[in-house]
Amino acid sequence: MVVRIRPTEPRDLDRFREITIAAFEGVSIDQRVEEAFGAFHGHDWRWRKGQAIRADWEREPSGIFVAEIDGEVVGGITTWHDAEAGIGFIPNLAIDANRRGEGIGRKLIEHAVDHFRQLGLSVARIETLAHNEVGNHLYRAVGFEEVARQVHFAMRLERTS
Ligand SMILES: CC(C)(COP(=O)(O)OP(=O)(O)OC[C@H]1O[C@@H](n2cnc3c(N)ncnc32)[C@H](O)[C@@H]1OP(=O)(O)O)[C@@H](O)C(=O)NCCC(=O)NCCS
Repeated sequence: MVVRIRPTEPRDLDRFREITIAAFEGVSIDQRVEEAFGAFHGHDWRWRKGQAIRADWEREPSGIFVAEIDGEVVGGITTWHDAEAGIGFIPNLAIDANRRGEGIGRKLIEHAVDHFRQLGLSVARIETLAHNEVGNHLYRAVGFEEVARQVHFAMRLERTS
C-alpha cells in the first residue's frame, strides 16, 4: 500500500469534508452542544464541522494536506500558522474509518510538522478531547507533550422578544 501525502486541491474538498464529518462522530464539541441543547439555528453539528473545514481552507489553503491511496483521498489534515508568534496549529485531522490504524494519521501529522519546520516556526500545537483515546495516544507518540487541559462551556440563549 502506497500512501501519498500531497497538498489539497479544490476538487478534494467535498471528499475531505465528508471524511471529516463522519470521523468526528463522538469527538465533536459541537455535537456535545447539540446533545445538551438540541438542534438549533437550522443547522446540525455535521454542517458546522463542514463549515470549519471550509474556514480552514479559506484561512490557509497551502496548509491543508490529503492522504491518497491509488488516487483516492482517504484522509486529511488542516493547518494554519502565525509566523510572528512562531506557532503552527492543527485544527482538523481525519482518516476514513476503513483506513484507520494503518499509520496514515501519523504520516499526516509528521507531514504537517515538517511543513511547520519549513516555514521556520518554533512550536506545533494540536488539541484533542480528554476522552479521545486515539488522539491522546497518537499525539504523544509523534512527540507532542501535554501542556494544559481546557473545559468547554456553552449556554443556550433564550429569545427575549
Ligand atoms: C485520530 C485519527 C486521525 C488517527 O488516524 P489513524 O490513521 O487511525 O492513526 P495511525 O494508524 O497513524 O495511529 C493510530 C495510533 O493510535 C493507536 N490506537 C488506535 N486505537 C487506539 C485506542 N482506542 N486507544 C489508544 N490508542 C489507539 C494505534 O495503536 C496507533 O499507535 P502506534 O502508532 O503507536 O501503534 C483517526 O483515528 C480518526 O480519524 N479519528 C476520528 C477523528 C479524530 O478523532 N480526529 C482527531 C481529533 S483531535
